Amino acid sequence: MADSTIGVGILGCGPVTQAIHIPTIDRIRDSVQVVNVMDVNAQVAEAIASRVESRWTTSADELIADPAVEIVVVCSPNKFHAAQVIAACRAGKKAVLCEKPLALTEAEAREIAQVSAETGVPVVVGAMHTFDPAWLSARAEWGDLVETAHTIRYSIVLTPNTRSEDFASEIFGRPGARIDARSAVDIAADVMHGSIMGLAIHDLPLVRVFCPDFTDVELLSSQVLDPGGYLVNLRVGAKNVQLYGLNNESWRPEWRFEAVSDDTVMRIDFPPPYVHAGSGVTTFFDGESTRSFGPTGVNGYEREWRYVADLARGEAEPLDVSYLADDLAFAVGIADAATANVRARFGSEVTA
Ligand SMILES: NC(=O)c1ccc[n+]([C@@H]2O[C@H](COP(=O)([O-])OP(=O)(O)OC[C@H]3O[C@@H](n4cnc5c(N)ncnc54)[C@H](O)[C@@H]3O)[C@@H](O)[C@H]2O)c1
Repeated sequence: MADSTIGVGILGCGPVTQAIHIPTIDRIRDSVQVVNVMDVNAQVAEAIASRVESRWTTSADELIADPAVEIVVVCSPNKFHAAQVIAACRAGKKAVLCEKPLALTEAEAREIAQVSAETGVPVVVGAMHTFDPAWLSARAEWGDLVETAHTIRYSIVLTPNTRSEDFASEIFGRPGARIDARSAVDIAADVMHGSIMGLAIHDLPLVRVFCPDFTDVELLSSQVLDPGGYLVNLRVGAKNVQLYGLNNESWRPEWRFEAVSDDTVMRIDFPPPYVHAGSGVTTFFDGESTRSFGPTGVNGYEREWRYVADLARGEAEPLDVSYLADDLAFAVGIADAATANVRARFGSEVTA
């Protein structure tokens, strides 16, 4: 490891670590290197450590206390994110990259923002589309679209994660299926909440850029779709917002974000998650012409990692963690409202 290489420690060695972070870190190995990995499952920790030639442990405290770990990556199940981010900040690390969601609740996210401000440790959320060159070219080219857009919508139609993970890496230690003893209404509620906090959350920070009145959210409708999907219609301030997602066997994955005004449609086609094949593509249609940007060879995961490495070297401006906490509050508000509506309407839909 060269003197200038920054040491990375990873908490949680599941599919996202194996199929997203390790391949991405490897692409920028001149600047970062995994030095320690942790998982509560010792076999998983040991197997992943042998892949990256690092130390391993089953203790988060031990990894965070390792002085060679300068960047902590939080890739554990969501319920552990807040406590692990806070512990890494308190240990004075150079940067923390937390997979989405930053936390489970707004209160947790606000505490993270406070601790990050107190300790001066920068925190980044793994919202890769906010780093994707397609989003950056959209921002540079959209003119007054933020003011003029009346409709924001995005559609995510993907095969199950396991298939994408398998295309990206050989996954070790994937948990087996569990017997589901929940009632039908609890399953529907969990699908809705999990879909918003697990999948739709990726692009809610993009939506928020178009919706400055992000605390003024009215839920118009929410439906669970089969298989494993959701359709949520919102009014956010003065804008119509539609979130659509479906997990099925479509041969062609789709992840499309659109902002629509009376005279322009801006469309961003993002690559599926886990894919390491370049950025999204942004297209503007205005009735007379079509302008397209991308793809570039660097995807959102790689730009996210380059930014984290720059932060750790003190060569990039930190993000405002209160803003990230607002993103989380926006997502939780939508997930809670959409889920309460699913529970209230459960069984009341008339089927023909
Ligand atoms: N950015 C993306 O594209 C993307 C895609 C999918 C998921 N995610 C996020 O990435 C994170 C990890 O996802 P995954 O699919 O690998 O999750 P997973 O639940 O399948 O695996 C997580 C791993 O964490 C381990 N673990 C359990 N308790 C732990 C603890 N207390 N501390 C550390 N590790 C612990 C488990 O043994 C497991 O190996 C999640 O927060 C998820 O929301 C991001």
